[in-house]
This record gives sequence, structure tokens and C-alpha cells, in this order.
Amino acid sequence: MLPIPDSLIVNFDKALRTVFARAVSRRPYPDAKIDEAEMSEAEKRHAAGLMRVNHSGEVCAQALYQGQALTARNPEAAEALVEASDQETEHLAWCERRLYDLGSRKSVLNPLWYAGSFGLGVLAGALGDKWNLGFLAETERQVEGHLNSHLASLPEQDAKSRAVVEQMKVDEIKHAETAIAHGGADLPLPVKMAMKLSSKLMTRTAYYL
Ligand SMILES: [Fe+2]
Ligand SMILES: [Fe+2]
Repeated sequence: MLPIPDSLIVNFDKALRTVFARAVSRRPYPDAKIDEAEMSEAEKRHAAGLMRVNHSGEVCAQALYQGQALTARNPEAAEALVEASDQETEHLAWCERRLYDLGSRKSVLNPLWYAGSFGLGVLAGALGDKWNLGFLAETERQVEGHLNSHLASLPEQDAKSRAVVEQMKVDEIKHAETAIAHGGADLPLPVKMAMKLSSKLMTRTAYYL
């Protein structure tokens, strides 16, 4: 039998944990001190749909960061991404708890989102740090755009979901700034468009599935 590299085992273990295990948060949950609001069944369903999209987005973020870490060359850049990546795990935990509080569940397609994003991360990492970090910054910016649209769409009284999304937004903005500060390049427009298209596929599907 061929020897299996350690990094492959570590990554497979991380993938399984991201998709199937419960994530934990070191920081307090942003909605911990907020009471659950009165919501109709339709409002709850809508909030859960949006939080499921956010959760799947965080699964993608995990995969992306792990894929990039595997191929990133500059140790300083890799180090800078560790903190961002840790915060993505917290986002995963916050969205997951919010989903369960709303009486809902995670997307059944998470393994698929994970695999696709991991591949993209490896590819971006292989292109060199400048593009790797540029890809990351653009991803974070697009996520920020999604979070803004969710803040506009979430039920007005759902302060718990809002608190989670607000804190994630603050973090994602910082992640983009970190990537730029470490030399991330501005991506060509067609690449940005392709990224928007593929994230649309994920967000539209994860809302229901
Ligand atoms: Fe995140
Ligand atoms: Fe992020």
C-alpha cells in the first residue's frame, strides 16, 4: 500500500469535523444575551433559510482556508490567515446554534460545498500568494455583500440572527483587510464574476436544502 501523507490525513479529519461535528466558539456567542423574539412560522422559516445559507458559506470558508493553507508559500501570510480561519470556525458554531434555535437544520449538501471550495482553495494557493490572498479578499468582500443583503431581509424583530450576522460582517471585513495587507492582488473582472455566479448557486440551493 502507498504511504498516505500526514497532511492528507489531517485535512480529511478537518473536513469530516467541519461537515459532521459541532463547531465550538472561543468568543461568546453574539446573540447570547438577546431574548428570542416572537416570530410567525413563515418568518422563522425565512430566518432559518438565511442562516442555513450563512452556515454553508462558513463551511465553504473552512474549506477554502484549509485548501489555501496547504499550498500557500509565504509562512507569514499563512500565519496571518490562521486567526481568520479560527474566526471562521466560530462563525460556523454561531450559525449552527442559531439554526437549531430556529428549529431547523444544516444544509444536506455541505459535503459538496466543502469539496468544491477546498478544490478552489488548493488552486488559488497553487497560483502563488498574490493571487491566493487576492482570491481570499474577494471572497470575503462577496460574503460581506451577502451578509448585508441578509440584514435587509431578516425579520425585523429577529435580533438574535441579526447579532450573529452583524458580528460576522465585522470579522469578514477584517479578513479581507488582512489579505490585502499581506499583498493580495485585485482579481480580473471575469474571475470575480465567475465567483459571484458560483456563490449564487450555493446560496440559492442552501436556502432550501
Ligand atoms: Fe465567516
Ligand atoms: Fe471570513
